[in-house]
Amino acid sequence: MYNIAVAGTGYVGLVAGVCFAEVGHQVTCVDIDEKKVSLMKSGVSPIYEADLEELMQKNYVAGKIDYTTDYKSAYKDADAIFIGVGTPEQTDGSANLSYIATVARQISETIEKDCLVVVKSTVPVGTNDKVEQFIHDFLVNDVKVEVASNPEFLAQGSAVHDTLHAERIIIGTESKWAEELLMNIYDPFNLPIVSVNRRSAEMTKYASNDFLALKISYMNDIANLCELVGADVQEVAKGMSFDERIGSKFLNAGIGFGGSCFPKDTKALDYIARQNGYELRTVKAAIDVNKDQKTLLYKKASKRLITFNGLKVAVLGLTFKPGTDDLREAASLENVPLLLEHGANIYAYDPAGTENFAKVHPEGKDSKGSITYVSNVEQALNGANVCFIFTEWGEIKATNPEIFKELMRTPLVYDGRNIYRVEDMQKAGVEYHSIGRKPAIRSVVKESRNLELYNS
Ligand code: UDX
Repeated sequence: MYNIAVAGTGYVGLVAGVCFAEVGHQVTCVDIDEKKVSLMKSGVSPIYEADLEELMQKNYVAGKIDYTTDYKSAYKDADAIFIGVGTPEQTDGSANLSYIATVARQISETIEKDCLVVVKSTVPVGTNDKVEQFIHDFLVNDVKVEVASNPEFLAQGSAVHDTLHAERIIIGTESKWAEELLMNIYDPFNLPIVSVNRRSAEMTKYASNDFLALKISYMNDIANLCELVGADVQEVAKGMSFDERIGSKFLNAGIGFGGSCFPKDTKALDYIARQNGYELRTVKAAIDVNKDQKTLLYKKASKRLITFNGLKVAVLGLTFKPGTDDLREAASLENVPLLLEHGANIYAYDPAGTENFAKVHPEGKDSKGSITYVSNVEQALNGANVCFIFTEWGEIKATNPEIFKELMRTPLVYDGRNIYRVEDMQKAGVEYHSIGRKPAIRSVVKESRNLELYNS
């Protein structure tokens, strides 16, 4: 068993640290945020993630994991230091590596024994060569130190499961010593390990994420065409999924991909390509399709309604996907400001994301409209003129089509996640627009009488 330090306690660092402790290693997680550290020591997870808190508490009590702001004590006698700090996107699409550089500098000044530095954060190809050089340049003690790449593939909402049961572990090393040490650290996980060179490992992360982003954007593109030619994208996806070469996952058309990885990693790879004098046309196309997709339903609704001014708008789901309180690149962040600018009175419901969303849009008057946060679907729908669904939370999916008809002043629904069967909404008397499928339209006679739609 090894003595492991982890720099950064975000999704990547904290989950890795907890899972290393769970398989028996001795782990110290380092973060600069004192408050966060004392929170974690008291057994509270700073992120919303299934199973994480339970494993944090269990391993803390067992003495397998600790949290500190004192990086010196954590790094000085570590066998391996995993770096899981953020690499946020900059305005030109490149990754900001300043947090990695800070940690690298701290490592070079504190390590007192041979140590493997493992970069888990997603970094541009070639970064780990530079990190190694940087550490050697500033190294204080006469010890051996190497850098390995070990990209992270966990998805939010299932991070612990994804780590303990990963389909593969990618390790990128430049020496037998580093390769063997990293393999030994992962040995207790009993998972397939793919050992490659450092640059290939860095590239594998981008290539995998961007492939999935492309897959989603491809389906969104097909969905938009399906609408025009009268096909149904869910039926098309079903037909495609039986081909094992295509597979059944990530074929869901919707309101575009969000989160901390796909938007950032597509732009980063596009940037890396441009830096190298190459145009990565496929990834660029995915970025473009995704940008348009995010506000597709808003555009459709604005044509249908003429104005949002004074309308009561129910918003169901704010996070970029279910199972997380994370809002990064969520469709809601683009659509809510548009609705507010156009005078909508929004009633928003999300099982976990409300607190974070209220930091950006505090409750009350906002722009030309207003926003109110409610604690269930029914409260959001009550008396609403129109409803937007941005996230497919279980609580939202469980809402019966009849509820929309019963509670809304005008049952008009724009669903960015294709939660409902069009037939069911039609049967319930709900006007229903989704992605890549024909709409459910109420009868023309009823439609022309629906003047209340415009008079909130
Ligand atoms: C992703 C990758 O799955 C993970 O391997 C990587 O390490 C980090 O990025 P994450 O961003 O947490 O994980 O969530 P994921 O479940 O992949 O969803 C990303 C976005 O794509 C979400 O907005 C989701 O709604 C969207 N999506 C996903 C679709 O629109 N359609 C799909 O079929 C699948």
